Amino acid sequence: MVVYQVYPRSFADSGGDGLGDLAGITARLDHLAWLGVDALWLSPINPSPMADGGYDVADYRGVDPSFGTVEDVERLACEATDRGIDLLLDIVPCHTSIEHPWFRERPELYVWSPVDGPPNNWRANFGGPAWTEDRHGRGWYLHSFYPEQPDLDWRNPEVARELAAVLSFWRGKGVAGFRLDALQQLLKDPELRDDPPATRPRLLAGETDYETLEHVHSSDQPGVEEPLRALRRGAGADAFLVGEIGLPCDRHGPYLGPLDASFCFELFFSAWEAEALAAGIRAGLATGKPAWVLSNHDFPRLADRIGRENVAAAALLLLALPGPVFLFQGDELALGNGPGRPAGAAEAPPYDRAGRDPFRHPMPWTEKPPHHGFTTGAPWLDVVVPPSGSAERQREDPGSPAAHTRELIALRRGLVGPVEELSARDGVLSFRRGAVGVAVNTAERPREQPWTGSVLHRTSSRSDDLLNPGSGTFVQVV
Ligand code: BGC
Repeated sequence: MVVYQVYPRSFADSGGDGLGDLAGITARLDHLAWLGVDALWLSPINPSPMADGGYDVADYRGVDPSFGTVEDVERLACEATDRGIDLLLDIVPCHTSIEHPWFRERPELYVWSPVDGPPNNWRANFGGPAWTEDRHGRGWYLHSFYPEQPDLDWRNPEVARELAAVLSFWRGKGVAGFRLDALQQLLKDPELRDDPPATRPRLLAGETDYETLEHVHSSDQPGVEEPLRALRRGAGADAFLVGEIGLPCDRHGPYLGPLDASFCFELFFSAWEAEALAAGIRAGLATGKPAWVLSNHDFPRLADRIGRENVAAAALLLLALPGPVFLFQGDELALGNGPGRPAGAAEAPPYDRAGRDPFRHPMPWTEKPPHHGFTTGAPWLDVVVPPSGSAERQREDPGSPAAHTRELIALRRGLVGPVEELSARDGVLSFRRGAVGVAVNTAERPREQPWTGSVLHRTSSRSDDLLNPGSGTFVQVV
């Protein structure tokens, strides 16, 4: 299964307001069908004050007017399904927006301090204290992320009932599954004990005071299977559920029962080096339910993280792995980071206070400046065109990153069976899936191709038995 992640604000604008929307996505479905993906995941589309790019939901059953309407979701689901593409939505179960009516009307659904002030030393994921005083004088509430994102109390069974009903609502609108956000934050220590000082580096380490503590009480608590079972019940047995669990893979076990897959961030954050990549793959395989991903809306784009010269081989590696694989919009174009918020724009919604706008620039659809088919208005962030050109140009160029991605997705259908003979030798990462040998050269010099047989795909134009640095192959092994 290949899932294509769409960041709705930056995919395609149908209305000319400079913001991507659902009708824009529907109008561009042909690009996804051309690539051959099986599913499309939308980052949150619910009504939101956009303090966290929509991960601050003010109504789980609605659609933000900037994106369209619930009917637009139904239309998108229907048109995607017609092309053999499932629609997945992003559900944010850990917290709502401070503007969600529940926060005003049903405070018992949230986590409150038992004292008049922060009851412990917990820090928020984006830095700063995890407790904020309520502006209506009701005490101090917990927020694992921004203060505009109060945490729901998953020890209150009403929360599970409400969220399960939300999943079932969207299934009724043609949605096939969900990406579940920040699951490690669902449960906290009921005694609200202090987190001790940090002793080991974190997998998703940022640069805030969040890193100063070991989050043994503020996240990842026993009993998480119960809330996830409730979400599964709401979604239905046939829904696809992938969890974002911000923990190393060897701690995903308690979450996995009700899920189909969880993201393996070890591979995501691996250095572009064969040993490290092999370790990332092993970590994911060990869960038995890995979802593979190398980029998303939260982290610098692949081209900037591992070097543009390695992007094609990274796509080959990713698309050779068994199980669900996630591509972030623009990865197929080898799109790099953009400059982020325009000069002079305030650090206010929709711009991101955590500095992630450079990873969220709009899609360059055409060669036509100034906005390259993204909008007829003024885009919320500039449209950046990668060196290999816009989507339109790359689709016509058989040597482009987009054409490679498309070919790899097609070839992937012929890869069967588990990862075998995984090895990292002399800078070359290799493994076999059935009769297909996969190899990627991460070294700085050409290396011997480890597989003998006919080449099904190669990312460099070399025709001998050597692999160029930053290149990869699929070989039909004899
Ligand atoms: C999402 C982020 C978001 C955070 C809080 C995540 O992991 O991917 O974009 O800021 O959850 O909802």
